[in-house]
Amino acid sequence: MPNVLIVYGTSHGQTRKIARRIEEHLVARGIAVEAHDVRNLSRTFQVSQYDGVIVGGRIWMSKVPKNLREFVIFAGALPYTRYHFFLRWVMKRIATMAGRDTDTSRDYEYTDWDEVARFAEEFADQVQPRARVQPETRAAAVSPL
Ligand SMILES: Cc1cc2nc3c(=O)[nH]c(=O)nc-3n(C[C@H](O)[C@H](O)[C@H](O)COP(=O)(O)O)c2cc1C
Repeated sequence: MPNVLIVYGTSHGQTRKIARRIEEHLVARGIAVEAHDVRNLSRTFQVSQYDGVIVGGRIWMSKVPKNLREFVIFAGALPYTRYHFFLRWVMKRIATMAGRDTDTSRDYEYTDWDEVARFAEEFADQVQPRARVQPETRAAAVSPL
């Protein structure tokens, strides 16, 4: 069974949520997955022990977390209710200038989940190509009995 490591850097949880969704897709394709917050990754871990590695990081001021600097993936949320007072005020000002959502009594999620699914499935294709449906299997599937 192929195995994949997912490493993510998150501040308010959206990147973790995306990592989990990707994990679900890969597991459904018969791939073993280990997902870790980059802060919890052991210093001794070896990338070479995995068949594939996915790294995801939230973007702040056009930057991903320092420890993930070389990599970028998608996130996308304005979780106003999870921000402390000052950050909520700052983010509302930025959102206003950018013409985005500004109701700070609720959270907004902009993640394109279809895109996440597409990414996960394409990645799974690389690690574990889909099994070809054998003619006998197809015949059995349409058998009236
Ligand atoms: C202080 C701050 C700065 C941000 N800067 C950017 C940015 O430069 N570009 C961007 O696309 N999103 C930016 N965002 C939005 C975050 O990338 C988005 O909220 C993301 O979902 C956060 O991921 P997380 O929940 O995993 O921490 C910023 C958010 C905060 C709070």
